[in-house]
Amino acid sequence: MTPEIYNHKSDLREVLAFHRAAGKSVGLVPTMGFLHEGHGTLIRHAAQSADVVVVSIFVNPLQFGPSEDLARYPRDLSGDVALSGECGAHLIFAPTAEDFTPADMMMQVKPGAMATALCGRSRPGHFDGVCTIVAKLFNVVQPDFAFFGWKDAQQFLILKRMVADLDFAINMVAVETVRESDGLAMSSRNSYLTQKERDEAPTIQGALAEALRLVAQDGELRCDYLIDAVKRRIREGTRSKIDYVEIVSLDGLRPLDRVEPGNTLLAVAVQFPSARLIDNVRF
Ligand code: PAJ
Repeated sequence: MTPEIYNHKSDLREVLAFHRAAGKSVGLVPTMGFLHEGHGTLIRHAAQSADVVVVSIFVNPLQFGPSEDLARYPRDLSGDVALSGECGAHLIFAPTAEDFTPADMMMQVKPGAMATALCGRSRPGHFDGVCTIVAKLFNVVQPDFAFFGWKDAQQFLILKRMVADLDFAINMVAVETVRESDGLAMSSRNSYLTQKERDEAPTIQGALAEALRLVAQDGELRCDYLIDAVKRRIREGTRSKIDYVEIVSLDGLRPLDRVEPGNTLLAVAVQFPSARLIDNVRF
């Protein structure tokens, strides 16, 4: 099935009002395009839960820092449309930057303390931009369900909190991270990696698997110990700079001294020369 493409929010609102009047539920998968099987899995989940599936494709300028990769972020609209259709999407929303983030925009969503932990430290303002654009998408699409990946755990947890605190009537669904066969978490930014970096990158997932083993088999709950073990393992596999290895609570991203079973996120960011890669596991 080839999805219909909408470039203007007013046209999309109109067609969605029609579907809603017919009693159909709506699922939204927000993306920045250059879709891979990770995005595809989100779309398939959406197609199982909702009657009408909207995939948004928008490289959001509000969430890129001044020295980040906005201009060179990879794009492939025709490939994205094909993959979205194969996975069950009905509508694609691909607004222009002029339409969706006009230069005279003044308002922003400010996520507060959860946005200063983990990636927030090295990407100031990033989650303001994410929350603002996702709030706009929620207002235009008014979905019953919205789908996000655990790959970007901090993003999902902040957005879930936004939905609760600002009373959006949306079911927030998180989908497990989809990985390459060697364990590397799929990401549009993996396309930046040199061959040497690509060969080293699965070391991140190897280190996270080691932490899972330490907790599950050895009953290790001390966060310092787990963080050291993960850092050591990453340093064995790459000389690229570790941005952070942190253990925080899922319910507010509070730093933890001991693993709280069912409420713990171990998150990692490694700055490779060509791309910054993130990954995480939950205990
Ligand atoms: P993007 O990086 O394109 O990711 C879109 C969605 O796909 C996010 O929810 C992300 O967590 C999920 N995703 C990416 N890689 C994944 C993987 N390997 N497995 C499972 N899910 C994966 O995240 C964004 O775009 C933007 O910040 C956005 C939310 C669209 C706001 O601009």
